[in-house]
Amino acid sequence: MQMKTRLHTRQTTFRQLEIFKVVAERLSVTEAAHQLHLAQPTVSTQLAKLSEALNSKLFEQIGKKLYLTDVGEELLRASRELFEVLDRLEMRLAQRAGLSVGRLRLGVVTTAKYLVPAPLGAFCRQHPQVDVEFQVGNRADIKQRLQQNLDDLYVFSHPPSDLDIDATPLTDNPLVVIAPRDHGLVGRGELPWSALAGERLLMRELGSGTRHAIEQHAQSSGLALGQIITIASNEAIKESVAAGLGLAILSRLALTHMAPGNLVELPVQGFPIANRWYLVTAKGKQLSPIAQAFKDFLMQHCVQQ
Ligand code: PGA
Repeated sequence: MQMKTRLHTRQTTFRQLEIFKVVAERLSVTEAAHQLHLAQPTVSTQLAKLSEALNSKLFEQIGKKLYLTDVGEELLRASRELFEVLDRLEMRLAQRAGLSVGRLRLGVVTTAKYLVPAPLGAFCRQHPQVDVEFQVGNRADIKQRLQQNLDDLYVFSHPPSDLDIDATPLTDNPLVVIAPRDHGLVGRGELPWSALAGERLLMRELGSGTRHAIEQHAQSSGLALGQIITIASNEAIKESVAAGLGLAILSRLALTHMAPGNLVELPVQGFPIANRWYLVTAKGKQLSPIAQAFKDFLMQHCVQQ
């Protein structure tokens, strides 16, 4: 069994070591007492107790000056290390208290459901105790949640310009024209928009950010949209395009995630529509430590290089 030193016993306290450290660094009992808001005799008494516990002199007084003895030097080094360890412990405990329990509430537009799960999964592996609420909706739904302050963080492609928000750009979210592999327009090189004139276009519902982006692009580029079929789901649109119901314009990521195998991107002049995801918070929102940690994590993993 290992012998306990007197520093291990109740004869020595952290407080005594703290007092010693301040005196040793300032080489003045008066200044240390002042810094620690203690009376000078209290400081001297605690130093005497520490010296007694170690059975060694810690200071020498020569003239008016105080010097550390060799033992005092050793003890100062050890005290510094000890308080550094305690500081680090305190920091880790504070982080754990903030991150280990609690809920992370996210609201994302449907195209971002292809972007967010990978970093979210990695984050949850690092913080397995965090409960996550992950809401997916179209732009109008998620905007409403933002207005009602229901979630911590949001991901939009078109952050609402009429709300007081902070929006941080993440990665690109290009919108591309998709077709089934056996479509007559596939393999004919880059097509003018007019080549698509006789095609049905499968479009998301009103309130969708994708639809909003397509309509804006059509308007600013003078493209006629032709016959439109509205389908309120990216997945249903992909299935319908694969089945030959028409063409569609969707996020390129939608094409690589959960997509039927026979879909291809059609090269069309003026496409892809340049788009980007944004991480959005209500202005002035006080983020919980978990939400702040996830925000930092997402910015590390999804910011355009
Ligand atoms: P949405 O998402 O089409 O589901 O609204 C789109 C977006 O803004 O990217």
